[in-house]
Amino acid sequence: MVNKFEDELKQTALKVASAGKGILAADESIGTIGKRFAPIDVENNQENRRKYRQFLFETKGLSEYISGAILFEETLFDKTPEGKPLVEILKENDIIPGIKVDKGQASIMNAAEGETSTQGLDGLGARCAEYYKQGARFAKWRAVIKIDASTGAPTDLAIAEQTNGLARYASICQENGLVPIVEPEVLMDGDHSIEVSAEVTERVWHAQFKALADHKVLFEGILLKPNMVRSGADCAEPADMATVAAFTLRTLQRVVPPAVPGINFLSGGMSEEEATIALNEINRAPGKKPWNISFSYGRALQASVLQEWKGSDDNIPAAQETLLARSKANGEAQLGKYGGGAGGAAANTSTYQKNYSY
Ligand code: 13P
Repeated sequence: MVNKFEDELKQTALKVASAGKGILAADESIGTIGKRFAPIDVENNQENRRKYRQFLFETKGLSEYISGAILFEETLFDKTPEGKPLVEILKENDIIPGIKVDKGQASIMNAAEGETSTQGLDGLGARCAEYYKQGARFAKWRAVIKIDASTGAPTDLAIAEQTNGLARYASICQENGLVPIVEPEVLMDGDHSIEVSAEVTERVWHAQFKALADHKVLFEGILLKPNMVRSGADCAEPADMATVAAFTLRTLQRVVPPAVPGINFLSGGMSEEEATIALNEINRAPGKKPWNISFSYGRALQASVLQEWKGSDDNIPAAQETLLARSKANGEAQLGKYGGGAGGAAANTSTYQKNYSY
């Protein structure tokens, strides 16, 4: 079928994948943002969620480093007290609005313990059409894959289920004018080595691109949001950043077609500084890179900002300055030019949580 959105999808994907820019993932579900607000004593109500997202989007100069922002559904339809839609703020600031469309994870009964399938395909086409009308131009769907030698995870069943779900989601998005961010996240939970992570990640990505091809998804109109290839969070001898960069780049080169315009890594529990340095190393590593290799960070762009803000209006300018500084650092890392030391109150604090949900 000819897709009337084909040219637009390609343009949107290319614009998000601009040199020196990446994505701000601010799409925490209501439950998850509550977990972020709790340590800084901010009540998880609609007004505070709106206020927080509004000041993130109003940060002056943000679009120099941020090309797209992923929103939770509530934020896509939210307005300032003066009645201005938050999406308008993004558009005026030259940041493309995106929308998280998955509905979280449900367990797969006969897979390994704890393996899940991402929910949200029912009615997705109609939702995408609504989101497009409201101004969204790209979408996100997160599918998690666990590594656990004691249970046999990941199983072929879970990989098939998750990658096929992502491919079906991607085709529905493209049918409705949204660029799908394809996010198969191999979790960093576990004590496995980087070699095991590389093997599993490569296996998952091969299955992912086969599924995308089976669904005839337009590769020029997607963005890949993967994990970096790293040792497990509890690995006794974690690999250094240069090794992470080498394994990650090798895996990208082996699997991801050059037709895909952008790779936007998730931070997955790394500290802000670690996530920035890792991206910088990948972009500095020798070898072929036919894609814009960048970031789509949630935790690694917001940890210090939340610490600065603490729910007080007086702290908003300082919190915005921190967001700008961390975004700039990541923008430089996209170019392989980050010199270190961008700062931030929580820059070196791990954002890792076991069994994290978004
Ligand atoms: P983190 O950068 O916090 O891993 O999350 C990004 C994201 O959007 C996960 O779906």
